[in-house]
Amino acid sequence: MPETMIEAHGLTKSYGKPSDPVRVLDGLGLQVPRGEVFALLGPNGAGKTTTVRILATLTTADSGTARVAGFDVVADRHRVRRAISLTGQFAAVDATQTGEENLRMTARLTGLSRSHAKHRAAELLERFGLTEAARRQVRTYSGGMRRRLDLAAGLVGSPEPGVFFLDEPTTGLDPRSRRELWQVVRDLADGGATVLLTTQYLEEADRLADHIAVLNGGRAVAEGSPETLKARFPGHRLDLVLTGREAYLRLAARAVHHSPGTLTLGLPTDGTAAHARALLDEIDPHRTDVERFSVHSASLDDVFLALTGETAEEAAGETTGETTEPTEEPTHV
Ligand SMILES: Nc1ncnc2c1ncn2[C@@H]1O[C@H](COP(=O)(O)OP(=O)(O)O)[C@@H](O)[C@H]1O
Ligand SMILES: [Mg+2]
Repeated sequence: MPETMIEAHGLTKSYGKPSDPVRVLDGLGLQVPRGEVFALLGPNGAGKTTTVRILATLTTADSGTARVAGFDVVADRHRVRRAISLTGQFAAVDATQTGEENLRMTARLTGLSRSHAKHRAAELLERFGLTEAARRQVRTYSGGMRRRLDLAAGLVGSPEPGVFFLDEPTTGLDPRSRRELWQVVRDLADGGATVLLTTQYLEEADRLADHIAVLNGGRAVAEGSPETLKARFPGHRLDLVLTGREAYLRLAARAVHHSPGTLTLGLPTDGTAAHARALLDEIDPHRTDVERFSVHSASLDDVFLALTGETAEEAAGETTGETTEPTEEPTHV
């Protein structure tokens, strides 16, 4: 097995009329070493699904090259398909059958003998925490269980420990199912699998990924470990509503967020009570300058602002004319 399980160089892709093309990928490159979890983080329309579809051989790039498990995604398309699991795409799960029946059937279709298929199904049910639900019809499964069965079905005929493409795996899941799926991804990684997942959630990328690439305008605008990326922008802000203009001006230089209209400043913090308390004591020792405070966690929008100077909505071409924080600007009626 190669050391680099997923790699892409200079991928470009445009949609639309040749006379009026819309460029979706603009020279995207990425490398995922074996056994790593890689998160492609970006807002709606950033090109995440397009990237996954190119890597999983469901569509082709206009230019650039990509290899998965050592195979070229165009020239060796069939080998790539056998090497990967793609959530919810290749797996045709029948809701009126049980989880076990589905996996046995899929295993038979990939050419395994009856006894091997039975064995493989049991192995995958165990691995994805579905053993207890194995004999239940899939239509009784929760969203999270359903998604795990999809993962298992996609892996039936693939060599272990596998290469996974998870395109927004937790979008639409309730918080509990989301946490379950996070655990599954961590277990996969612990077992040596290589995972490329896409997400709109900074928190998800932070929790799961060894390496994050922030996608904007069809290319990776920032890359690194979650720690490296977070060091480039504050993960949390302590937003302070000040009692007067004097205090505002005194503290403005330390702030990463300014809203003069409401006398509000946002100062970087790690979000812990200890730090917030120490910060408040330091900047307002006489307890006269700060009227109110709130902790604001970095959103994907903040990351984009910090990294690209535009908001996630703008990057997605979905400018609505509203500010993301309506309280920020004085409203004129
Ligand atoms: N088959 C297609 N035809 C035309 N435009 C497409 C097609 N697929 C995607 N797009 C456009 O490409 C852009 C990126 O889409 P996509 O890769 O799905 O982004 P993401 O998954 O990050 O939301 C979007 O603006 C989308 O409308
Ligand atoms: Mg998508």
